[in-house]
Amino acid sequence: MNYLELFPTILGETIISDISLNEVERYKIYLNNLEYEDNGTGNYRGTFNQQVLDEPIFSKLKAKILKYAKEYLKTQGIILEDIRIVNSWGTKTNIDERSLKHMHVNSYISGVYYLEESSNINFYNPLENKWMFNIIKEFKEDNSYTHTYKFYTPTTNSLVIFPSYLPHEIETSKKDSRKSISFNIIPIGSIGKNTAILEIK
Ligand SMILES: [Fe+2]
Repeated sequence: MNYLELFPTILGETIISDISLNEVERYKIYLNNLEYEDNGTGNYRGTFNQQVLDEPIFSKLKAKILKYAKEYLKTQGIILEDIRIVNSWGTKTNIDERSLKHMHVNSYISGVYYLEESSNINFYNPLENKWMFNIIKEFKEDNSYTHTYKFYTPTTNSLVIFPSYLPHEIETSKKDSRKSISFNIIPIGSIGKNTAILEIK
């Protein structure tokens, strides 16, 4: 029998190669000096500042993220007037800390930029909770039909972008002070037509 993969969930990933290691070090020092608080989805912390990408030090990074986010959407045939980063925050995860599985609400697409090698981020199959039966899978083989989650191992300057509805978690950190910047993006401008026009300024 042939099998077709219908409607895959798209994860965008890249290395932002034109941000130098010196710039990354400056980012780390800046993030180290921010204040953090528990963010409620595990025992790691997020910055009080929920707009860190608006700080001048991150202007180049912010422009790169927007460029890749537009490319990510265009690949899926989504052409928008523009997009906006509505929240962006630093996260700090110390040894033995992790995040719980969560999704990003009030957002269209989300992503994470990593300043260093980090513990995995695990993405869970959003279709699993559509089924009315909770059946334990016993496949030996791990492939796109069988797996219930996929992991991504971040490296320095890596960027991932994904739909905000996609459940994900940070695995337990094996080192102190793992840093990343997370962000949420919404479409802006004129969206849709006829009875479903939305204007977001
Ligand atoms: Fe998240």
